[in-house]
Amino acid sequence: MSNILVIGGGTYQTTLIKRIREFGHNAFCVDKNITCPGFIAATAYRCIDTSDMEACLSYAREIEADGVGTYGATITLPTVSYIGTKLNLPTLNSYAAKIAGNKYEIKKALVEHGCHNKGDLLVFHSVDEALDSGFKYPCAVKPSDGSGSKGVSIVKDPIQYEQAIRYGFAAARFGEIYIEGAIEGDEYSVEAFVNEEKIYVYSIIKTTFNRSGENNTGISYGHTTPPDISVEDEMAIKDEVTKAIHALKINMGSINFDVILSHEDSLPYIIDCGIRIGQNLIASHMVPFSRGVNELDMYISQLLGKTIDAEPKFTKYVSTRLLIAEPGIIKEIKSMQDLIGKEGIIDIVIRKHVGEQQRWYKDKSDNVGWVICCGESPRDAEERAEHARIKLLPRIIVG
Ligand SMILES: Nc1ncnc2c1ncn2[C@@H]1O[C@H](COP(=O)(O)OP(=O)(O)O)[C@@H](O)[C@H]1O
Ligand SMILES: [Mg+2]
Repeated sequence: MSNILVIGGGTYQTTLIKRIREFGHNAFCVDKNITCPGFIAATAYRCIDTSDMEACLSYAREIEADGVGTYGATITLPTVSYIGTKLNLPTLNSYAAKIAGNKYEIKKALVEHGCHNKGDLLVFHSVDEALDSGFKYPCAVKPSDGSGSKGVSIVKDPIQYEQAIRYGFAAARFGEIYIEGAIEGDEYSVEAFVNEEKIYVYSIIKTTFNRSGENNTGISYGHTTPPDISVEDEMAIKDEVTKAIHALKINMGSINFDVILSHEDSLPYIIDCGIRIGQNLIASHMVPFSRGVNELDMYISQLLGKTIDAEPKFTKYVSTRLLIAEPGIIKEIKSMQDLIGKEGIIDIVIRKHVGEQQRWYKDKSDNVGWVICCGESPRDAEERAEHARIKLLPRIIVG
């Protein structure tokens, strides 16, 4: 039985905590929020701000930690890396852990290492500074610490620029936005994993958009893997993300990329990189069901310095759809469990509760849940997922 310290007690880290305990280990948790779900799931916890590295390190020493980690988040990675280094435990190196929290710095590193890029890459710390600057259109304006499309705009016309800048800054928690060239093309989410210096690109996942999102950004509402793309495109995407993983010096764990395959020159452009698992069921469902590997279980083994078999086992077609309800208060969510196992439905995951306010669908955190289906081909899986989505939505009653 080992002692693993989990930095952060949010939803994703709670998944890690529960799994550690299912394996029979002790899971300890630190978070500044006393009501976080991780504390309920943990063997024991302490209320500490996760950015207070010394306090977290003292707790790690106190519990005689055999491993330290986090899950689904990048903000907690510097503390994980600091403790791991001090206690000589397997950990993400400090360079990758630090850069993980700043999407501009990541993009800059990728460009410096020869990853594909279009247009200027600029960083701003005030609205005035951004408004005084000139650059080419179309461009993407984004907060350096964003997630779930918050604060992101694609500016196609100079008239949209000022609003995009203000929208970006409103979401920029540490007051920094950046601008890069906008790429026109098909978008893919790419899930990769690093183990003992070997890079595994598990899944290339076609993203389907609901274009009703604000500011010209694509807000995803479905994913399908493996996609219907040529071997050349698949190889080009794999080469590009491999180059990026080397550029960012990532030495273990999961990495999720957003890649656009350009309609103009057919090259893959990395437009986003999270040094963490892919969300929207990617790591929890899509990779296990389509490739036969479980990133969560492998990560726990990595934290404890165990040898793992990270090779994918098979390739199967799966597709997901976000379940997006009308705005209002959720009055009832009728049971859906009877449908699992029928018409290709592998699982249905609901994350909202009755009584919760359902916002107008604006970013990736506004969905009520997801459905995942399998199929004989990318198209078959996608059609089943779409069919399931239409069948399930009337079971979510919003008033
Ligand atoms: N350079 C770009 N070119 C074209 N579309 C982009 C670009 N950057 C972002 N987008 C669109 O906006 C979405 C959200 O931007 P992203 O950088 O992935 O932020 P987030 O952290 O919110 O995922 C992307 O999934 C993509 O559809
Ligand atoms: Mg993204």
